[in-house]
Amino acid sequence: MSKDSGWWDNFFPEFRPFFGLVSQRETNNHVRYIMEKLNLKPGKKFLDCPCGIGRVGLPLAKKGIKVTGVDITQSYLDEFGSKAKKSGLSIDLSRADMRRINFNSEFDAAGNLWTSFGYFENESDHQLVLKKMYKALKPGGKFMLHVINRDWIMANYQSHGWQEVAGVKSMEKRYFDYRTSINHGTWYIIKDGREKTFEANIRMYSFHELIAMFEKVGFIDIEGYGSIKNEPISRERMMMFITGARPRRK
Ligand SMILES: C[S@@+](CC[C@H](N)C(=O)[O-])C[C@H]1O[C@@H](n2cnc3c(N)ncnc32)[C@H](O)[C@@H]1O
Repeated sequence: MSKDSGWWDNFFPEFRPFFGLVSQRETNNHVRYIMEKLNLKPGKKFLDCPCGIGRVGLPLAKKGIKVTGVDITQSYLDEFGSKAKKSGLSIDLSRADMRRINFNSEFDAAGNLWTSFGYFENESDHQLVLKKMYKALKPGGKFMLHVINRDWIMANYQSHGWQEVAGVKSMEKRYFDYRTSINHGTWYIIKDGREKTFEANIRMYSFHELIAMFEKVGFIDIEGYGSIKNEPISRERMMMFITGARPRRK
């Protein structure tokens, strides 16, 4: 087993149907918001890491943004690549762990979107992910982190969850470790009448913790919103959109 292996290796290939939980309308709204917040215009370079199946990266590329996508799940990269090809778009795609990317001052903007953060056991790895995204930006470039809000989780915690998409069912049994702030999820996924069990352990962050982590790597102009209507982050808002900029001179 490689040192970069983890629960994500087994979980994400099976998680594919659950991308269907986000409607096309919601994704289109996200894409508009991301473009506005990150000053993305046609011709600008965007790093989508991790990119998944291109939920956001593909619509951005269709709008003329030069997208680079990185993800650990090969089947997602293959799907993103073939959808791009069908649309006559060329997207730079590569398979890598988000902790190991090595871009240097290349992008006008970057995003870690839809709760793709907090996957590792060691706190320092999450700080490392932010550092790699910062380093990938050109001076003046902007980064967005779009994650679930720990304070909403605490106000609404349920020890079980249930979802069904396109005939695939999942039951999640949750245990929250207050010592580490990691939500330990056991997912029972039922597909074609067969049940498989997966682990998904995610470190949950509050806004103030992420501000400190953004500051530590050097981001400035840090802002956070609880919705695409720019509502404030609070325990009423499930998701957070946090942005920061790499200073022009640094
Ligand atoms: C919830 S999905 C979000 C995907 C995409 N950002 C979106 O908005 O649709 C999380 C993604 O993280 C990827 N991933 C999980 N662990 C990873 C790792 N260690 N390094 C890189 N990507 C990883 C998964 O393959 C999956 O595509």
